[in-house]
Amino acid sequence: MNQEVGSWIPAPPDYSGLDFGALRSRRGFKEDSVREAIIAPLLTALGYNEEHIRRSHSLSHPFLRTGSKNRKVELIPDYALYTEGRFAWVLDAKSPLEDVFDSGHISQVYSYAAHSEIRAKYFAICNGSEFVLYLQEGDEAPVLDFTFSEIAHRWPEIWRTLNAARFQSRSEASRNPLSASRVGEGSAFDYATRPLLKEIPVRKQQAKRHFGVHAYFTKQSWNVVSEYIRNYSQAGDVVLDPFGGSGVTLVEAAMLGRRGIHVDLNPLANFMADALLAPVGIAQLSVAFSKLRDDFVKKMPSGAAEIARLAEEAEPLLQTPLSRDADVANVSGLFSDLQKAQLLTLRRLALAEKEEGVRKCLLLVLSSMVTKFNLTYHPSTSRGDGGGDSAAFRYYRYRIAPEPTALDFASFLDNRFRKIIAGKREVGACIDKARYAQQSIVQGSATDLGFLENESVDYIYTDPPYGAKIAYLDLSAMWLAWLGMEASAQDFEREAIQGGSRAKSKLSYNRLIRESIFEMYRVLKFDRWMSFVFAHKDPEFWHLIIESAEAAGFEYVGATPQKNGASSFKKRQHPFTVLSGQLIINFRKSRNPKAILKAHLGIDFANVVIETIEAVIARYEGAQIEQINDELIIRGLELGFLDLLKKEYSDLAPILSSNFDYDPGTERFFLRKDSKFKTHVDVRLRIRYFLLSYLRRIEIAGGQPPTFDEIFRNIMPLLKNGTTPEGQTILSVLETIAQPLGQGGGWRLKGTESQGQLFRD
Ligand SMILES: C[S@@+](CC[C@H](N)C(=O)[O-])C[C@H]1O[C@@H](n2cnc3c(N)ncnc32)[C@H](O)[C@@H]1O
Repeated sequence: MNQEVGSWIPAPPDYSGLDFGALRSRRGFKEDSVREAIIAPLLTALGYNEEHIRRSHSLSHPFLRTGSKNRKVELIPDYALYTEGRFAWVLDAKSPLEDVFDSGHISQVYSYAAHSEIRAKYFAICNGSEFVLYLQEGDEAPVLDFTFSEIAHRWPEIWRTLNAARFQSRSEASRNPLSASRVGEGSAFDYATRPLLKEIPVRKQQAKRHFGVHAYFTKQSWNVVSEYIRNYSQAGDVVLDPFGGSGVTLVEAAMLGRRGIHVDLNPLANFMADALLAPVGIAQLSVAFSKLRDDFVKKMPSGAAEIARLAEEAEPLLQTPLSRDADVANVSGLFSDLQKAQLLTLRRLALAEKEEGVRKCLLLVLSSMVTKFNLTYHPSTSRGDGGGDSAAFRYYRYRIAPEPTALDFASFLDNRFRKIIAGKREVGACIDKARYAQQSIVQGSATDLGFLENESVDYIYTDPPYGAKIAYLDLSAMWLAWLGMEASAQDFEREAIQGGSRAKSKLSYNRLIRESIFEMYRVLKFDRWMSFVFAHKDPEFWHLIIESAEAAGFEYVGATPQKNGASSFKKRQHPFTVLSGQLIINFRKSRNPKAILKAHLGIDFANVVIETIEAVIARYEGAQIEQINDELIIRGLELGFLDLLKKEYSDLAPILSSNFDYDPGTERFFLRKDSKFKTHVDVRLRIRYFLLSYLRRIEIAGGQPPTFDEIFRNIMPLLKNGTTPEGQTILSVLETIAQPLGQGGGWRLKGTESQGQLFRD
């Protein structure tokens, strides 16, 4: 297993109680407060101790030699970070009112870093709310800049760039307790008993490596993926995503020191993942971008004849036919002549680049320009013209926009350069050539992972297609054409979707998903986990996943509702029927997998559904359709009534509208005015139902067995209707399904057999 220094990342500094946004207006919070309250914890978290920090270090010869002149070094930075007999970087503190990008400050701190008595690789400025770091011998752009309010999610990058161990030899690093590669993770990491994660707040827009570089369908939120990878694997482990898409799992796995394996049969997805990950010199890339821009401006097609000629020359690239639901017959119909001429010019310039890593980035620029410069581009009413989307991402079909949008090509190029450089900088801070070489991008199908040996993978995080919604290969045709790539007939055959240009059946989708689950089981090691993201509205598909996973040998351990960003466009249009949430279903590959018990509640199934809905409404004081759907599915999974849900409630709308009130303002369902929770169900059955779900959930989450008081507090709110039960009744039902663990201890469910007697058909 890989024990590289730098693979494990300690916690970021604890700034709880500090409001970074308000520092500027806090009287008395000056430079010395910045040093104490902000810089000191930062340096500690980065692994620096007193031995490493030289404060206000004075120079014997305070002059910087530039050419034949001596320039006086007037500012002595507050910190010089010293490891292994040399200075690694210098840092100057400023008051919150000062600008870290002020050129005077930058040249002062630079002059110190460049001084012959220092020669530090980096220099930095921090004003308490912002931090900026430059390479002493680099170009003008900072190598790292962040605001402290975003430190939690930027931490891996900050830590990797500046941690003390990075500047130390292995011998010193091994003496430094903070730099040991897996303090707190390695020794205590027990794969089989990893906890389930709760819902994680989504921070999609805060990683430049995924947000703004290139759009793709249903990208996972990087911070959710990253938390899951950390929870279920260790540095050096193999992390697989067999439906890899734009590469979020791969990139996050690589950033966390894992060996990522990304599989997708869409060449566009694989191109994006590789172009983002491949190491490249940022300075070299900046130069290539400016040259590309200058050359483009020089060669920019002008005049009707030239535009027509170039458009004609582009035609051979653009002949891929589109599916029947497209407004035009082939890719060529998606572009005006001007767009064809501009994109062809850009493509030629990009392909002329000799250096491979740079060329991939230039092609990424081209591909992301295709997203904006085509006739299906729909501007955004809320985000301005440039914030719109092409129809493939918005409507999942090639719909020509009613009004063409005229965006300025050259200024969009600048926008693309900025975003792609920012993304590459983030990735480059953690992933060098050696780490890149440990990652794999495989053009292939999740149904055939033949290149992987049995039991060779430590963790799987995957987000497969959800049935009929998105035909990935059809919808990627526009980008593939410009990239000179093609999906093969076999790719289409193995694509796990319903419908699309090949009119694929539900049966074929089910079969492919099932096969992929069997492959995932085969390649995963024992006691390791698979987290399966799913967002289909129809419970039939959930049933398919659980049933296939159990048939393959997986044990279902628990599911967590997880949002994946703001509501989609569709969701906003139809809040009543389209879900925005997704569930992450977690399975373990156990040697003795427990099967999910089939429920036989002995009560009217419709009542169980209504009760579950009511319980969600009670818990959230009015519930959104996603919350209701998620809860029904989780209960269905755990109590085994998913197949009934599938048969009778594939659409929740009718049961919701006929039993509950809907408030369009809050998009929530409530009990009908003046109505109580329903009371048709025998009180002991209701108690048994809620007790079981509650105890099973605690057990799954690995929590402490709850005391009777805790159980009572949790169950009672769900039972408060017509006849509210006594504590004694709850206790007597509890005794039939659980046992106390000694005097005053908690309650644990009896063994599977007694649950079996209660619930098996
Ligand atoms: C929901 S997307 C994954 C998105 C990804 N999680 C991300 O963050 O970008 C599903 C992916 O599965 C791919 N796919 C469909 N059928 C496949 C198959 N049989 N094998 C591998 N990938 C497949 C699609 O091309 C698509 O990229």
